[in-house]
Amino acid sequence: MREYPTPVAGFREPVSLLVDCDTGIDDALALAYLCSQPHVELVAVSCAPGNVAAEQVARNNLSLLELCGRPEVPVAIGARAPLRIPLVTTPETHGPHGIGYAELPEPHGKVHGRDAVELWVEAARARPGELTALLTAPLTNFALALRAEPRLPALLRGVVIMGGSYYYQGNTTPTAEWNTHVDPHAAAEVFAAFSGLPEDRLPVVCALETTERIEMMPEHVAALAVEAGCMEPELVLPDQPEGRRSTASNELVRHVSDMLRFYFEFHRRYDQGYVAHIHDYFAASVAAGTAGICTRTATVHVETAAPRLIGTTVADFRGLWGESPNARIVSENHPEEAFAELVRALGGLGRRLGSRSARNAPEAG
Ligand code: RIB
Ligand code: CA
Repeated sequence: MREYPTPVAGFREPVSLLVDCDTGIDDALALAYLCSQPHVELVAVSCAPGNVAAEQVARNNLSLLELCGRPEVPVAIGARAPLRIPLVTTPETHGPHGIGYAELPEPHGKVHGRDAVELWVEAARARPGELTALLTAPLTNFALALRAEPRLPALLRGVVIMGGSYYYQGNTTPTAEWNTHVDPHAAAEVFAAFSGLPEDRLPVVCALETTERIEMMPEHVAALAVEAGCMEPELVLPDQPEGRRSTASNELVRHVSDMLRFYFEFHRRYDQGYVAHIHDYFAASVAAGTAGICTRTATVHVETAAPRLIGTTVADFRGLWGESPNARIVSENHPEEAFAELVRALGGLGRRLGSRSARNAPEAG
């Protein structure tokens, strides 16, 4: 086991990220969080088919980046479907547009003219050893990038994946997690590409057994609103009518609140309580270097044949298969710290954006 302690307050090592996401409510929180971090450079955001179709992911990403004051970040689309099986989306989890009840403004920007996979390979070749890949979606685009550039594991500074569940029940089938279930063949190709590399080159894998510990609750939304300077309490409560819209004075808080209300209702509908597992935010904090974690090296297998088990991930922590390790699976995290960081970061961003829009607001008259 290896420990990566939470960075000391005040110092955060600069990080340059290539993000691939299927925004997605928790992807949206992850992206907004990264926009709040001055030490994080967003080199490009690519859009994978998953929670919703890739075009909808792109619209969500363009609008969210503009909302968070980062309109310059390139947004590109790669694959429109998994490598070999039809795309299955999940409107019941993230809403028909992937962002719950939120209605993000129509983006001004356009999707980048280049294919996301080409952009990733070009960026990695241009900045060898500098870029970290954060993957919070089915791994289709990353598998295609590895096919185009097999040296990618050596060219990238690091890789963080939200995906899989290890000796822990799935959230899509009894044994499979969503990202690896949507495109199991891509996941299998990605883990195979890292087999045999030195431990510090292996992807850090945030899987359900740790991401479901990052369980957002209504009090976190309330705290976020306070941090953003909202005068009125932001109450998202289980006994309120479903679909109620936020009236928060702060635009970022309003959209986040509308996303999370949908996510709370979804988790309650599936007997998990009025909570929201914000998997991708946790993975983003790992990629940003702001989360204290421990990892265990393992050999990961992704099932691609057995119909009942397709997308299931299994980790061999003890070398029983006699195969080289291909992953560092997160084994410990700190939910309290994670939420203190999220509230502080997103609240601060909301406050800064709120004051910016107030400055730009037309004179009352
Ligand atoms: O299983 C959780 C993962 O699937 C997250 O990335 C969420 O956004 C969904 O894509
Ligand atoms: Ca996701």
